[in-house]
Amino acid sequence: MRFYLATGNKNKLREFRGMLGEVEPVSVDVEENGSTFEDNALIKAREACRITGNAAIADDSGLCVDALDGRPGVFSARYSEPGDRKAKILHELEGETNRSAKFVAAIAVVFPDGTEFTVRGECHGIITEEPRGSNGFGYDPIFFMPEFGKTMAEITPELKNVSSHRYNAIQAMLKELQSRGVLE
Ligand code: IMP
Repeated sequence: MRFYLATGNKNKLREFRGMLGEVEPVSVDVEENGSTFEDNALIKAREACRITGNAAIADDSGLCVDALDGRPGVFSARYSEPGDRKAKILHELEGETNRSAKFVAAIAVVFPDGTEFTVRGECHGIITEEPRGSNGFGYDPIFFMPEFGKTMAEITPELKNVSSHRYNAIQAMLKELQSRGVLE
């Protein structure tokens, strides 16, 4: 199955290709004004389905920090200027001992006949005191994964692709597609 993915984010595209193989990016121009990851993933997938006439998928993802009441959450991509986002989180957590957080990825699948579903994957970790590592993207350098003793930016892309929130969401999506008879 060829997956049409609504995204303009080359990092996400690279990860999806690493996990699914053939993935065709579709550029969508929509306002991500949903209040949940699932809502925003659906907004993007519906538009990609409309543009291509094919079944389409979209991911909406972000970082939820417990001590910040789940922020930045759905606002992860717009929490502050690019480059300052990690610094803003670290600043907000100065002196905070509860540094637990999770990455969340919701994937929406939309078919031309109007059928649609969403799945969610999570990955739990700890916000570091300072950024570490240069792999990955976004908040990866401040997200410590206790199971590996490294940040998400210090593990290899291959390891991220079998342990991340996006990996968990994709596994749930594949399972759902199989149970609906869309995939073998
Ligand atoms: P979206 O394109 O609206 O889903 O934005 C997601 C934002 O959440 C990205 O721009 C990143 O800031 C953050 N994010 C999502 N997934 C990851 C990840 O795997 N690593 C680091 N940051 C992520």
